[in-house]
Amino acid sequence: MSLHSLSQVRNDTRKAGEVVLVGAGPGDPGLLTLHAYQALQQAEVVLYDALVSQPILDLIPASTECIAVGKRCGAHSLPQAEIERVMVAKAASGARVVRLKGGDPLMFGRGGEEMQTLKEAGIPFRVVPGVTAASACSAYGAMPLTHRGVAQGVTFVTGHGQDGQPIEDWRPYVIAGHTLVIYMGLKRAGTIQAGLLAAGMAPEMPVAIVGQASQAGHRRVNGTLATLERLANQPDLPSPAAILVGETTAMAAELDWFDPASQPEVSSKSLDNIFDSAAM
Ligand SMILES: C[S@@+](CC[C@H](N)C(=O)[O-])C[C@H]1O[C@@H](n2cnc3c(N)ncnc32)[C@H](O)[C@@H]1O
Repeated sequence: MSLHSLSQVRNDTRKAGEVVLVGAGPGDPGLLTLHAYQALQQAEVVLYDALVSQPILDLIPASTECIAVGKRCGAHSLPQAEIERVMVAKAASGARVVRLKGGDPLMFGRGGEEMQTLKEAGIPFRVVPGVTAASACSAYGAMPLTHRGVAQGVTFVTGHGQDGQPIEDWRPYVIAGHTLVIYMGLKRAGTIQAGLLAAGMAPEMPVAIVGQASQAGHRRVNGTLATLERLANQPDLPSPAAILVGETTAMAAELDWFDPASQPEVSSKSLDNIFDSAAM
């Protein structure tokens, strides 16, 4: 869709309710897509998770009804079934609803379940992808997820399974020339370390942990699989954080570039300018 037609849609006044599942990305508002920004401007109701950063929430017009439904570190402010009930009820009443989630809605975000619920309820929906944590940790942590001759593949995995149980058998994840990105693993770093070692991964395998990737509090620490638990227990490591395992993580020493203090800022004013000039 061209920028011109995007701004036409922006002024569209539809009557029927709908839900847009929007990926907010890893925190920096500059990483929102234009579709995400537009959906936030058009929304009448925004249901947002705890991982959505304050600078992104600041882009939502003051008149929009915003409902914090967020989950963080197991503390759910609303159970999933209740989140879905509110989302369906708001859209069924004719509201344009944005379901705003950190990162990408379909990456460890229960977006698929919400799509199923909307489908069953007959509510029209769209999905706007977001920059997932793995991409942000890789880019801002200066560690390619793949690199010719070093890593030919990448796996995204959660550090805990359904209902919080840790993965017991890490053998399917120990693949030569492969990068592992472990979401939600910080608190289980000791178990993950033991599991990967038991599955045959070398203790010298380079690892990294990136916290608050893309944000002002961004921090990366590097080590080896043998030191993973110790790295994760550093008191000043910010959360949320993801664990990266693989040879490419050692490239950060050479490629490091990110200084959170000297990044270009994106404000609602600069985003409005994009839409205004597209409408001319
Ligand atoms: C429930 S999952 C949601 C993932 C999200 N849907 C995505 O695509 O990034 C939450 C986990 O994502 C990771 N995460 C999210 N934002 C992050 C960030 N800015 N920096 C590092 N890790 C992040 C952490 O591992 C965190 O525990």
